Amino acid sequence: MIPRIRFAHLPTPIETLPRLSEVLGGPQLLVKRDDQTGLAFGGNKTRKLEFLVAEAQSAGADTLISAGALQSNHCRQTAAAAAKFGFECFLVLVGEPPDRVSANLLLDQLFGAKIIWAKKTYRDAILTDTFEKLLAQGNKPYLVPYGGSNSTGALGYAFAMEEFIGQAVKSDWVIFASSSGGTQAGLVLGAELFHFPGRLLGISVEEQQEVLQERVATLASETSERLGPRIEFAPSQVLVNADYAAPGYGILTNAERESIQLFAKYEGLLLDPVYTGRAAAGLIDLIRKGFFKKEETVLFWHTGGQPALFAEKYQSELA
Ligand SMILES: Cc1ncc(COP(=O)(O)O)c(C=O)c1O
Repeated sequence: MIPRIRFAHLPTPIETLPRLSEVLGGPQLLVKRDDQTGLAFGGNKTRKLEFLVAEAQSAGADTLISAGALQSNHCRQTAAAAAKFGFECFLVLVGEPPDRVSANLLLDQLFGAKIIWAKKTYRDAILTDTFEKLLAQGNKPYLVPYGGSNSTGALGYAFAMEEFIGQAVKSDWVIFASSSGGTQAGLVLGAELFHFPGRLLGISVEEQQEVLQERVATLASETSERLGPRIEFAPSQVLVNADYAAPGYGILTNAERESIQLFAKYEGLLLDPVYTGRAAAGLIDLIRKGFFKKEETVLFWHTGGQPALFAEKYQSELA
């Protein structure tokens, strides 16, 4: 039995986006609201954390450690889960302490997480060092991997695909933001195990296409062993579009600004500036290029992240 603590609000709803479909002159658009998973403003990490926190508890851990960007949604949700289940929490964040604490960083602090600042090149070394120091001082630390993306975290998205299929909503395409790869690996595995007939397309937020395909295929194969006999996924089976990653991680361009504005203006739906804003910009561009057939249905799997809208940097760029 794989340990799991059920605290996400599931199943997440599926909604139609008729006004956006019309204004884009595109296929029928749907959205699956994983921004509404319930924990601390929700997002895709909640599903992963149901398995990761359960594993930490089973291992007798009392402290969660993880790492991420200054405005990491993963770290915000990890800190919230730690608070909810009585763990201490240490976060190694890349960057320097800002003059004004805002958005996800503010929330990390409200959840009681202790922040350790690191330069990107030293992030992993500082993470290991923090782990060892905590161990030496008598804590029982559990390392939540970057983005929650190992075979334990990815299980959350294998079961998310089972949930989606159970909702019996027909969709030819499922499109979503892909970064550390755990979400896509889980979905790819779930699609195979639970027989999803459509296609899954990850829009890369920062990584090159081949790198992400390889990472997702490896992780999906590894995760399959947690649920039964190993299934070998080849990178070529993993659909990744990296055409929108070029500006770099967290850089808001006109494309993201437009997608955020269109979703907000036509559907009253909020995207985030780093992940879903970029994935939706990709979706909009693909629609405009005629990538989808008009009679197809395309589901945008919303992975959350909206607190970053209130980061000082993005507030001024979006105003
Ligand atoms: C809002 C949001 N969407 C998508 C992703 C990408 O998910 P994954 O890292 O599993 O590829 C992240 C990762 O941090 C995220 O915060």
